[in-house]
Amino acid sequence: MAPVGSKARGVWCERVGDYPSMVETFLLPLGPRLVEACGIGPGMRVLDVATGTGNASIPAAERGAEVTASDLTPELFEAGRRRAESAGVELDWVEADAENLPFEDESFDVVMSCIGAMFAPRHEAVADELVRVCRRGGTIGLLSWTPEGMLGALFRTMGTFAAPPPPGAQPPPLWGSEEHLRSLMGERVEWRMLEREVLEITAFAHPREYGEHFKERYGPTIATRANADKNGLADDFDAALDRFSDEWNRGTNEAARFEKEYLLAVGNRT
Ligand SMILES: C[S@@+](CC[C@H](N)C(=O)[O-])C[C@H]1O[C@@H](n2cnc3c(N)ncnc32)[C@H](O)[C@@H]1O
Repeated sequence: MAPVGSKARGVWCERVGDYPSMVETFLLPLGPRLVEACGIGPGMRVLDVATGTGNASIPAAERGAEVTASDLTPELFEAGRRRAESAGVELDWVEADAENLPFEDESFDVVMSCIGAMFAPRHEAVADELVRVCRRGGTIGLLSWTPEGMLGALFRTMGTFAAPPPPGAQPPPLWGSEEHLRSLMGERVEWRMLEREVLEITAFAHPREYGEHFKERYGPTIATRANADKNGLADDFDAALDRFSDEWNRGTNEAARFEKEYLLAVGNRT
């Protein structure tokens, strides 16, 4: 059996979907939002954990920070490097598991993750690592989908069709719960911002194109549909995803609009 980390990595690489194109289609506003909330400026040593294609790393580097962009899935760095080049910035791209970061204690002024570290299965191990590599008084910034929001609901919809998670794995959207975050970090982080905001998505004309987009490109949805198919439930899965897309549409049938809630949490390491 593959170790947990390598299984998680498989879900995000280009063999399973096309995550970089999802970023370009509707996720781009999140990176700059996190960078702004963290107050990143020139000369700061910044670590972006689970950077993907550099959604938060690139705007941080554009502000003059020295950025290390790390991720479990280095296949995504190729698209990230292209984006960085066209933005005219240089970053350090480092393959790294959020549960076991290959960096010295207290080596960054800012440690951040944009809808990234939340996907590593062992939350306590990740929290310990984020704290460990941030200097005392430095900033920890996390942008995470909430359990009550649209991504939380998608994971619940997919849950009935998914293969059982590996032992010890916790659900990603829990990182978007203020209570869970406080219990993970305890007194080690003094939060200066804990706010819920929404990402508005208008990239899809018809609501069900949202579900189709995920079926074609989003690793976790592709893996779940394959499991449903194995169990003879592919049609049921498709119908559930259609219902989900219709239910969450806040626009019309010709011009869909979705509001995807996230928690923006920024604090100082004590
Ligand atoms: C939804 S993407 C977010 C990427 C990027 N931060 C963004 O805003 O577009 C989730 C990322 O988490 C990464 N990831 C999943 N498990 C991880 C782990 N254990 N350690 C580091 N990265 C991980 C995936 O490779 C993927 O790039």
